[in-house]
Amino acid sequence: MTGLVSWRRDDDVAVITIDNPPVNALSHPVRAQLLEAVTQAHADPAVGAIVFACAGRTFVAGADISEFGKPPQFPILLDVIARLEQFSKPLVAAVHGTVLGGGLELTLACHFRVADRRTKLGLPEIKLGLIPGAGGTQRLPRLIGMEHAAPIILTGDPIAAPLALEVGLIDEIADGDVLPAAIVFAHRAARAKLAIRRVSEMEQKLAALRGKPDAFAAIVAPWSRAKLDAPKAAIELLRLALTAPFAEAMREERAVFMRLMAGEQSKAQRYLFFAERAAGKHPALKPAEPRNVAQAAIIGAGTMGTGIAMCFANAGIAAVLIDTDADAVARGMTSIEKQYESSVARGRLTADEKMRRLALISTATSLSAAKDADLIVEAVFEELEIKKSVFRELDKIAKPGAVLATNTSYLDVNEIAKATGRPEAVIGLHFFSPANVMRLLEIVNAKATDPAILAAMFALARKLGKVPVIVGICRGFVGNRMLQVRSEAIEQCLLEGALPEEIDAALAEFGFAMGPLAVSDLAGLDISWRMRKANSLRAEIADALCEAGRLGMKNGKGYYRYEAGSRRGVPDPAVKDIIEQASARLGISRRAFSADEIVTRLITPMIEEGRRLLSEGIAHQASDIDLIWVHGYGWPAARGGPMYYADTLKR
Ligand code: 3HC
Repeated sequence: MTGLVSWRRDDDVAVITIDNPPVNALSHPVRAQLLEAVTQAHADPAVGAIVFACAGRTFVAGADISEFGKPPQFPILLDVIARLEQFSKPLVAAVHGTVLGGGLELTLACHFRVADRRTKLGLPEIKLGLIPGAGGTQRLPRLIGMEHAAPIILTGDPIAAPLALEVGLIDEIADGDVLPAAIVFAHRAARAKLAIRRVSEMEQKLAALRGKPDAFAAIVAPWSRAKLDAPKAAIELLRLALTAPFAEAMREERAVFMRLMAGEQSKAQRYLFFAERAAGKHPALKPAEPRNVAQAAIIGAGTMGTGIAMCFANAGIAAVLIDTDADAVARGMTSIEKQYESSVARGRLTADEKMRRLALISTATSLSAAKDADLIVEAVFEELEIKKSVFRELDKIAKPGAVLATNTSYLDVNEIAKATGRPEAVIGLHFFSPANVMRLLEIVNAKATDPAILAAMFALARKLGKVPVIVGICRGFVGNRMLQVRSEAIEQCLLEGALPEEIDAALAEFGFAMGPLAVSDLAGLDISWRMRKANSLRAEIADALCEAGRLGMKNGKGYYRYEAGSRRGVPDPAVKDIIEQASARLGISRRAFSADEIVTRLITPMIEEGRRLLSEGIAHQASDIDLIWVHGYGWPAARGGPMYYADTLKR
C-alpha cells in the first residue's frame, strides 16, 4: 500500500507507518488508510502483533485542525479508535516527538505504548476551546488514574516520557531508536501471548473514586471556577468517567466535542492557533542561517531585566545581569531566587532545576561584562538619552556579530540604533511584564535591522517559549498604542459617570482576568504619570489620583483602597469624590453607564487604532494584533483578539 499510511512485515510483526508531514495530523485520508492498513495487517495470518509508528519529526500531533468546523468525513477518528482497540492481536504504539490530542488518543486505543526518551505526550484540546473528542476523557483516567489525568486534560500541558512511564501512560522508554524497541516489544507480546490490555476495560484505577464525589471535587478543584465552556465540559466528562458506563460516557463525549467545536469560543481559539503560525510568515522574515545564542547579557536589573534574565535561564541559556548599581543587582538576584523558590514550593519546578537555572544567571556591575555576549538586551530606564548612552557604550564593548536589543516600550528604535556604529545589529525586543510569564514578544524591526538578525531573534523567541510578533516603529508600537487609546477611553467614561469598579466589572465579564484599573493599581499609577509629565500630557483623573498620593497597590491606594497585606482592592469613596470633582472641573454632567456601553466605548477606539496600525504598516496583519492583545494584555483568548472580535460584530 502506498500513500500516507503504509505497512510492512518484520518477521511476525506488522509495522504500520503514518507519513503525513509536517506533524502527521489525522486528516481524513490518513484515517481511512490507517483503518485499511491495520485491517489488512490484522488479517494476515503471519502477523502476530502490530506496531504503529510515524515517519518524520513526530508521532501524530492530533486530529487535523483544518478539518474542524466542516462536516465530518467518515471514518471519524472516534470510530477508527474504537475499531482498533477491539483487534485481538496486540497493538503497540511506537511514539516520538509530540504525541498530542488525537495522536495520544490513538495510542490509548493500542494495547501497549513504547516511547522515545524525549517524547512529550498530552491532550491540548482545551487550548483550542475543545475537549479530547476521541475517547481521551474516558480512557486517560482509566489508564493512569483521575489524579494524573485531570491536570493533563484541564491544563492541556504535555508531560515528558519519564513522567509518563511513572504514571503508567507508557509501558517502556526506548534507550535507542524507538521503532526497533517497539518491534522487539511486539515480538515478545506476540510470542508470549501477552494478555491484550484494552484501556476502555480498565476499571481498577477509578474504583477507589467511585461514589466519592468529594474526592473527585478535590482533584478538579483548581479548575472548578473556570468560566469557559471547555474546562466546564471537561470536568463533567471526567465526572462521567466515574458515574456512567464507558459506552454512554463516550456518546456524551462526542456530543460535547461537536457542540464545543461549533461554539464561538473554540472558533476563536482555533483562529489564534493559526494566527501564531501566520505570525511566522511575515514578509520581512527571510530564510537565514540559525544563530546560536549561548550567552546573553541583560542591562538593567529592575523588574524587566530580572524577568528577562529568567527567560533565558529557563531556556537553558546563560545570562549575565548587569547593573551599575550593586544594590539593584543584589535586589534583582534576590527576586529571581524568590520566584524560583516559589515555583519549587508550588511543585512547578524541581529543586535541581531551580539550581540549574540559577547557575545560568551571573551578575556584574560593569557593562564590560557584556563583552562575550551573543545577545545584549537593554532594559534600563525608559528615556531616550539614557538608552542612547547605554548603546554608545555597548557599541564599544560588544563583540563583532553580537545582537544589540532594546526592551523599550515606546521609544524610537531607529534613534537608539543611530547611537551605535552598527545600526544593522540593533533591534527591539519588547518583553511584557512579568517577562518570565507573559508570552508576547514584540520584535521591533528597525530601519537598518539586518534581516538575518530579525529571523534569528524570531527563532530565538520561539525557543524561549514566547509568541513573537514583528512590528514596525511608532510610539508604543502596536500593543501600547492601542493601550493608550483604551486608557483615554477609560478616562472619558470615568469623567462622564462610570466608576472604576463598573469599568473593571464590565471588562471582567467580557473575559479579561483582571479589570484595567485593577491592573493599573498593580503596575503602579506613577509610571504612566511620569510618562505623561515628560510628554506634557494630562489625564484629569489619573493625574488627580497621583497628585492625591494614590500610587496604586504599592502604597495601599490607587483606583481602589487596599487593606494591609491584601491584593484585593475595594471601592473607595475618596476616589469617587476625586472623579466627581474632575467631572465638575471640566463641566461634564455625569450619567449611568451599562456594562455593554462600557465595553463598546473601550473597545471601539482600540479596533479603530488597530485598523490605523494596519494601514500604516506598523502591524502586518490583523491576526498579529490579536496575538499581541491576547498574549501581552490579557485579552480573553475565547474572544480571539480585538480585530477578530470586530469581525464577529459584523456577523
Ligand atoms: N492539524 C492541522 N495542522 C497542524 C496541526 C494539526 N493538529 N498541528 C500542526 N499543524 C500545522 C501547523 O499549522 C503548521 O502549518 P504551516 O506550516 O502551514 O503553518 C505546521 O503543521 C507545523 O506546525 P508548527 O509550526 O506548529 O510546528 P512546530 O514544530 O513548532 O510544533 C506541534 C509542532 C507541537 C505539533 C504544534 O504544531 C502543535 O501544538 N500542534 C497542535 C497540536 C494539537 O492541538 N493537537 C490537538 C488537535 S485537536 C484533536 O486532536 C481533537 C481530538 O481529540 C479528536
